[in-house]
Amino acid sequence: MSEHPPHALDLFKLDGRSALVTGGARGLGRVMAEALAEAGADVCLTSRSAASAAEAAAQMAAATGRRVVGVEGEVSTADGVQRLATAVRDAFGHVDILVNNAGVNIRGNAGDLSEADWDTVLDTNLKGPFLVARAFGPAMCERGWGRVIMLSSMLATIALPGRAPYASSKAGINGLTRVLALEWASAGVTVNAICPGPFGTEMNRQLMNDPEKYQAFIQKLPVGRWGHLYEIKGSVLFLASDASSFMTGASLALDGGWTAQ
Ligand SMILES: NC(=O)c1ccc[n+]([C@@H]2O[C@H](COP(=O)([O-])OP(=O)(O)OC[C@H]3O[C@@H](n4cnc5c(N)ncnc54)[C@H](OP(=O)(O)O)[C@@H]3O)[C@@H](O)[C@H]2O)c1
Repeated sequence: MSEHPPHALDLFKLDGRSALVTGGARGLGRVMAEALAEAGADVCLTSRSAASAAEAAAQMAAATGRRVVGVEGEVSTADGVQRLATAVRDAFGHVDILVNNAGVNIRGNAGDLSEADWDTVLDTNLKGPFLVARAFGPAMCERGWGRVIMLSSMLATIALPGRAPYASSKAGINGLTRVLALEWASAGVTVNAICPGPFGTEMNRQLMNDPEKYQAFIQKLPVGRWGHLYEIKGSVLFLASDASSFMTGASLALDGGWTAQ
């Protein structure tokens, strides 16, 4: 052990780091992008809409004083990820911290969902993070430092009816997280997942607008409430920084205790 271990709070600083957050123009991605910029990182955020990416980036740069770049990007196809990776490198430069956040949920009983529904969810939530991780991970390995953070879900470990593609994609993400962690551990690149419970984003608008379903969720949450969006900031900062340097292949539950039951 070093004679002068770093100060605890210094371990969380991200000065000089460059972070990419897919789907960082809104929802949890936007809050995580903001957290990384607040901790000192330059940030690149993506959206499928160039205008949304530019607007979110301008607002975040003004609020944090950091360099924030918005890039248009699609993660569900190999072509899309190749274009996204090129655009990120051209407009922003290299990436030290990747937050694989972009995701989608299509709910419905297994018998009612179409093949296209399944493909949309799996391509966005599982193939996308794989393609984006391998577009940036090898260069992190060459530089000898990197952080890959996957947005998984409590539905990777517990089940709810009507979530076949989503739960399958998130269980897959936890497996992908562990495999990439093993492949890149010796190069100084960690790969971990955050497994959120319910947060009030666009993805959950249907649930939030249905008082019965909303209350049913609260009944299942030991803390007795949904998550506040800012409550993901601590987890992403921990996994993006030197504070988590000995952690890799892990899945961090951020679910108000749901999966502790
Ligand atoms: N909210 C929750 O309760 C919760 C719980 C567990 C896990 N999560 C996970 O957290 C992540 C963020 O979710 P959220 O709640 O913030 O959802 P959200 O508000 O619906 O945002 C979804 C994000 O994903 C991006 N996106 C969707 N499809 C994409 C595609 N094909 N290509 C590129 N970007 C795409 C969207 O970007 P644009 O529309 O701007 O293009 C948007 O930024 C997801 O992975 C989700 O599964 C959320």
